[in-house]
Amino acid sequence: MDYQAADMAGKVAIVTGAGARGEGIGNGRAAAILLARAGARVVAVDRQLPLAERTVAMISEEGGTALAVQADVTSAADCERVVHEATAAFGGVDLLDNNVGVGSRGTVVDEDPDTWDRVMRINVRSMFLMGKYAIPAMTARGGGAIVNVSSIAALRPSGLTTYAASKGAVISLTRAMATDHARAGIRVNCVAPGPVYTPMVAGDGMSDELRALRRSAAPLDIEGSGWDIGEAVVFLLSDRARYITGQTLAVDGGVTLTAGRRR
Ligand SMILES: NC(=O)c1ccc[n+]([C@@H]2O[C@H](COP(=O)([O-])OP(=O)(O)OC[C@H]3O[C@@H](n4cnc5c(N)ncnc54)[C@H](O)[C@@H]3O)[C@@H](O)[C@H]2O)c1
Repeated sequence: MDYQAADMAGKVAIVTGAGARGEGIGNGRAAAILLARAGARVVAVDRQLPLAERTVAMISEEGGTALAVQADVTSAADCERVVHEATAAFGGVDLLDNNVGVGSRGTVVDEDPDTWDRVMRINVRSMFLMGKYAIPAMTARGGGAIVNVSSIAALRPSGLTTYAASKGAVISLTRAMATDHARAGIRVNCVAPGPVYTPMVAGDGMSDELRALRRSAAPLDIEGSGWDIGEAVVFLLSDRARYITGQTLAVDGGVTLTAGRRR
């Protein structure tokens, strides 16, 4: 989709997990770059400041405007500060891409209770907290839009049980937030990525065989990337999606259309 620079001119967008390893393109970094190309001023949030700073440098090199903010989005104080810093730098908040999430493998029998709690904190509490502080700022501006990043693991579970439960909670949270804040002019939607190839999965030392298997799981038989997720995020955050709220958009090359495969 060819966004014009004017589409999001004047808008301020927060992207959590906007960093990525090295020069790689993760889902958050791609969304941040695409939002800036559409004219938004971007607040790139990451627990690791240098990774967010690299995203900001990439945006600046293209002539866009962005600010890097170090924060751990499982911390209420950090999330509140992110909104304050966005408001101080750019005058308010209009858009939020709640992108931070971590994986976990195994059944409830295998899962460590502490890992369950950690995954829920990072994947669900973070989105609650960022919404808690960003929504009043959006309301003060007359409305806004939020994307919460879920996963097709929530729609078609396959051996990632804690992760699937957390990403299912993200879908329910999205529907509740969409209902609660519709009258304030705030839309809330989910993007559910399929097996896209990002620095996170590449960095885990994925073999060529597994990479090919992930690709061939999609009926379209193409490999998804962070850019594919970023494009969906930008669309749902844009006014082009003004009549869409509470929905979950699978961006997966059709993986969820097919029968599940046992790992
Ligand atoms: N990559 C995939 O195949 C895939 C598939 C489905 C869903 N997703 C979802 O997409 C989202 C992004 O995935 P990715 O592969 O681009 O992620 P990633 O692992 O590359 O993470 C992006 C950034 O998030 C930051 N981060 C992690 N925890 C944080 C915290 N507590 N506070 C602030 N920043 C934090 C990391 O430092 C990193 O720079 C996640 O929600 C993930 O669950 C990814």
